[in-house]
Amino acid sequence: MSERPIALVTGASRGIGAATARALSETHDVLLGGRDGEALRELAAEIDGARPWPVELTDPDAVAAAVRDVDRLNVLVHSAGLVELGAVSDVSVDSWRRTFELNLFAVTELTRLLLPELRAASGHVVLINSGSGLNAKPNWGSYAASKFALRAFADVLRAEEAANGVRVTSVFPGRVDTDMQRGVVAAEGGEYRPERFLTPESVAGPVCTAVRATGDAHLTELVVRPS
Ligand SMILES: NC(=O)c1ccc[n+]([C@@H]2O[C@H](COP(=O)([O-])OP(=O)(O)OC[C@H]3O[C@@H](n4cnc5c(N)ncnc54)[C@H](OP(=O)(O)O)[C@@H]3O)[C@@H](O)[C@H]2O)c1
Repeated sequence: MSERPIALVTGASRGIGAATARALSETHDVLLGGRDGEALRELAAEIDGARPWPVELTDPDAVAAAVRDVDRLNVLVHSAGLVELGAVSDVSVDSWRRTFELNLFAVTELTRLLLPELRAASGHVVLINSGSGLNAKPNWGSYAASKFALRAFADVLRAEEAANGVRVTSVFPGRVDTDMQRGVVAAEGGEYRPERFLTPESVAGPVCTAVRATGDAHLTELVVRPS
């Protein structure tokens, strides 16, 4: 890779992560996180300076092995996530655990492992949160709880790492036209109307704005709603 700054984007095989990887690639070499090796290879072939970084994020040993080839990092974008809808009366503890494993624990562990590189670069951590990280609604219990916790993690990390020059941004999108949203609408039993939702690019844009902000500016929280 060249000496351009490096960004690692999780969830880059699809949706918001893929759009963010494309947008960041104008200024950064990008490591494309995800599990679908073929999708990652196809995207890497489209983007100059990008390469696949396949890993199952809920497997701590696999994550520890994967970070060994990251010796320099300027930006870490956490976009991988999942949602499983259901009322508290119906949702199993396994579903709560799956949600927290990916939406929270995978984020905390990957961040922890890469903090030395991020500190060395006075880097930036971006967390793709959700409107559900600000407002909890019926049937969204495990997802909202994981995203509230993700917001708390971001706030703590920002305070702890300020002295090391690491910036931390939480992004709170409303509904976005992605595979995840198709699954949500199918579970809700509604008609899928993508024009009512944000495009993935409309979330990627604010991520880039936060990352490219001048050093005197720390964009801590960005709320992006469909207009
Ligand atoms: N879509 C929305 O309406 C919306 C709204 C607000 C916030 N968000 C948040 O935005 C983020 C991205 O959502 P999206 O809609 O782009 O999702 P998506 O289209 O469902 O894509 C999910 C991504 O996460 C990756 N992923 C899932 N499980 C993984 C695992 N165990 N290990 C590694 N990677 C894994 C997937 O990789 P593979 O396909 O390679 O497995 C995929 O790249 C999520 O954090 C979500 O909560 C979404």
